[in-house]
Amino acid sequence: SLITFVLIGVLILSEIRYYADTELQFEYLVDTNITGKIKLNIDMTIAMKCHHIGADVLDQTGQDVFSFGQLQEEPVFWELNPDEEEYRNMFREHNEYLTKQYHALQDILWKSKDIQLKAKFPKRKAHSSKKEPDSCNIYGSFELNKVAGNFHITAGKSIPVIPKGHAHLAMMMDVSDYNFSHRIDHFSIGDEARGIIYPLDGTEIVTAYSHHSFQYFMQIVPTEIRTYSTNMNTYQFAVTEK
Ligand SMILES: *[C@@H]1O[C@H](CO)[C@@H](O)[C@H](O)[C@H]1NC(C)=O
Ligand SMILES: *[C@@H]1O[C@H](CO)[C@@H](O)[C@H](O)[C@H]1NC(C)=O
Repeated sequence: SLITFVLIGVLILSEIRYYADTELQFEYLVDTNITGKIKLNIDMTIAMKCHHIGADVLDQTGQDVFSFGQLQEEPVFWELNPDEEEYRNMFREHNEYLTKQYHALQDILWKSKDIQLKAKFPKRKAHSSKKEPDSCNIYGSFELNKVAGNFHITAGKSIPVIPKGHAHLAMMMDVSDYNFSHRIDHFSIGDEARGIIYPLDGTEIVTAYSHHSFQYFMQIVPTEIRTYSTNMNTYQFAVTEK
């Protein structure tokens, strides 16, 4: 009867384990909340000088570009120092691993407590060389409306055009100043949340053509995650690059 006892013990334990485990359930609903804003968080580096580029948002509402907020700009070097390089590689490998190796990610991402990638790139350190910085780091957040729109970074600072819209003023720029090679350190939508994959983090694209422009098409899906330990409202996105 010792065996019976052990058996009962094992059964009770496994029942408790089963009960305590979070079971994932997916529900798909239409987001009917069209009021409210979405935060777009960006941290990227473009291989052009800061005074040569402008970044802003245009959407279907035709709202004034300056009312979405302003991003910070900081002159930096395109070359990364070894620390930064290591950090970027970590992101890239992590993303590659997740996208290539796994197909059912929900268990790893939402139920395990130890996957917690810090989503912020470390502050750029000054380089020792005396050269002038050749690139621009653009970072910060925009408040978006829930309509179709585009965020763009292009040559020339944006200036308001009366009565509506804006233009990018690119005067006195040489063809050789154009270089849309870029690196995306962070791109997310909504509040930062554990277990969301940010597919663009760690991307680096270098082009040899001055007039090569890049476009990313995204679809954004509101996401609510509820477990007994977490309660998050955020957004996920899918992206294709053209
Ligand atoms: C809509 O979203 C906003 C911001 O996310 C929130 O403050 C508001 O309560 C939501 N409204 C409804 C009806 O859920
Ligand atoms: C842009 O900058 C990158 C990094 O400095 C360089 O490798 C690339 O050749 C440049 N492209 C152009 C068109 O100047």
